[in-house]
Amino acid sequence: MKKVAVITGASKGIGRAIAKALSEEGFSLSLGARSVNLLKELVEELNTEVFYSYLDVSDPVSVKEFATNTLKKFRNVDVVIANAGIGIPGRLDEISEDDFMRTIQVNLLGVWRTIKAFLPSLKERRGVAIVVTSDLSTRLLPGSGAYVVSKWGARALVRTFQLENPEVRFLELRPGAVDTHFYGKPGRKREEGFMKPEDVAEIVRMVVKLPTHVRVEEVMFRSIYQDPVY
Ligand SMILES: NC(=O)c1ccc[n+]([C@@H]2O[C@H](COP(=O)([O-])OP(=O)(O)OC[C@H]3O[C@@H](n4cnc5c(N)ncnc54)[C@H](OP(=O)(O)O)[C@@H]3O)[C@@H](O)[C@H]2O)c1
Repeated sequence: MKKVAVITGASKGIGRAIAKALSEEGFSLSLGARSVNLLKELVEELNTEVFYSYLDVSDPVSVKEFATNTLKKFRNVDVVIANAGIGIPGRLDEISEDDFMRTIQVNLLGVWRTIKAFLPSLKERRGVAIVVTSDLSTRLLPGSGAYVVSKWGARALVRTFQLENPEVRFLELRPGAVDTHFYGKPGRKREEGFMKPEDVAEIVRMVVKLPTHVRVEEVMFRSIYQDPVY
């Protein structure tokens, strides 16, 4: 039977590249994001069985519906990639209440809701949960406080889920800068310190192919052109 992978935020950037890599690896896919038109375009390029639908991870009802419909289609899932995320810049004394809340809703609570919704199935399959945080999940960046706080929180979330659910293998995936819509329009030069979304997808490809007794808990990786700051 084909393995099934769920990817949130699959319409663009890193999520999209992971969807392509896992379809090449023979996974069936469940893809969620708000831009259903972009998901539809992506699905036409993929050569595997795909369920896709509108998903807003900041909305508990939307996450529940997405999980219910995914499980209706595939019965169980083997890999869940909580990738959907946003970044809203701003000093902590300037960022609005709304922007701070939105960041936490998507990057922190969105991850919690996604993993929670698929946890029973992941436990049954002794599956893998991958949470895309950031190299910023252990360091600080003035001017991006809300984002940094959300990613430190997501790191704590991954580890607590792991301690509470030893049957599931949790990975905190921590890329440095990646050339995606996250920074507006993609198209930045490698020398500016950006990796490509496909570079992140290669790490995921490697992890999902490992023997089931191996638990990769954390991977932090950056472009050689990005400063090695800690
Ligand atoms: N780019 C970087 O330098 C970098 C570095 C480290 C970590 N990351 C992390 O990598 C993840 C993916 O980011 P990216 O770089 O690929 O950015 P991106 O190109 O902007 O893609 C973000 C994805 O998240 C989805 N998304 C945003 N809000 C959502 C919501 N409320 N519900 C469901 N999906 C939502 C977007 O889809 P819709 O807009 O269609 O909903 C899109 O598919 C994020 O968690 C980000 O923090 C990025």
